[in-house]
Amino acid sequence: MNQIKKINIHDYSLSAKSILPKPLWDYIQGGASDEITIEMNTNDFKKIKVIPRRMIDIKNRNTTTSIFGQKIKFPVLIAPVGGQRQFHEDGVMGSTKAAETAGIINVVPTNSGYSLEEVAKNTTEKHWFQIYHYDKEVTKDLILRAENSGYSAICLTVDGVRTDRRERDKRNNLKLEDSKWGANLINYPGLIQNISLKGQDSMDTITYDTITWIRELTNLPLIIKGIISPDDAKNLEEIGVNGIVVSNHGGRVTDSMQSSISALPKIKNVVNKEFELYLDSGIRRGIDVIKAISLGAKAVLIGRPMLWGLATNGQRGVEDILKIIHEEIDLAMAGCGKTQISQINSTMVEYNFD
Ligand SMILES: Cc1cc2nc3c(=O)[nH]c(=O)nc-3n(C[C@H](O)[C@H](O)[C@H](O)COP(=O)(O)O)c2cc1C
Repeated sequence: MNQIKKINIHDYSLSAKSILPKPLWDYIQGGASDEITIEMNTNDFKKIKVIPRRMIDIKNRNTTTSIFGQKIKFPVLIAPVGGQRQFHEDGVMGSTKAAETAGIINVVPTNSGYSLEEVAKNTTEKHWFQIYHYDKEVTKDLILRAENSGYSAICLTVDGVRTDRRERDKRNNLKLEDSKWGANLINYPGLIQNISLKGQDSMDTITYDTITWIRELTNLPLIIKGIISPDDAKNLEEIGVNGIVVSNHGGRVTDSMQSSISALPKIKNVVNKEFELYLDSGIRRGIDVIKAISLGAKAVLIGRPMLWGLATNGQRGVEDILKIIHEEIDLAMAGCGKTQISQINSTMVEYNFD
């Protein structure tokens, strides 16, 4: 650990940068091509202004919410992040345990240094499992394994098929160690080799037929991650998925994509009230969480902030990050005159993303 005083999430990014070898730091921070979307993701949160209410008794506040019937202490999930074990030996095991300490859940990724069974065996809560659709056989196998291990939902990521180049990684000749991300795919050595060589290009194309096929495979809630278009959102709702994550993958897939937060209100407008919307890409503060909820998100996911904590101090570092964001959410609610998450809505914000 280093000597950087860490009182907010940004401090943890400085800390992670000082600890990690440059290629790994660049892998976390970097994104597609010119990284325009990465910049928009955080900038667009600044375009939302909150309008607090006063003369409200804010002594007793409660940040709890529930997602598909599962209670979480505050409306944040850890985003699925592949290869966490590269940044600290605790890897996804550490981030999942940290989520439990904080009273929230982890979206455990397919690409992981610990298998989904190992994670389930060593933790107590029900977490979500994230899937990349490499091919039908693997998808079927992963879903069955996730069901048998007690995961509470399947999160299918659809925005990873064919991505722009991540130029930082190309310059650094980045080579990730297979053992740090391939534990769930050990029965498919050919696939590991293929992903290693070709990255995301090794995935099958995902169409609405694929989603319908996956919908029929499982009774678990199915959440589709990587949606920015209102038309896609509406179609997915019609197919019968249970929710979506409005996400541009933290700016890592296609550059110049719209920021997630500016896409959210348009999506909220076209789906039914009950359809669950989640959001990630750019959340760095508790007030960002409040802003996302006010525009229609049920909860948000955090990717890089979790990794900054993990790189700094493994499981403990992730616990610190989650504690900070929870405290900030509580403070932001108090400041806005809200005592329950359910009171947060679009009447408390003004925004102009143009
Ligand atoms: C290093 C890294 C690896 C990632 N791996 C995955 C992955 O395996 N599956 C996935 O669905 N998303 C992956 N993501 C995207 C995150 O789930 C999430 O969408 C993104 O990080 C959110 O943006 P934020 O980093 O600004 O919070 C990854 C992100 C990073 C930074």
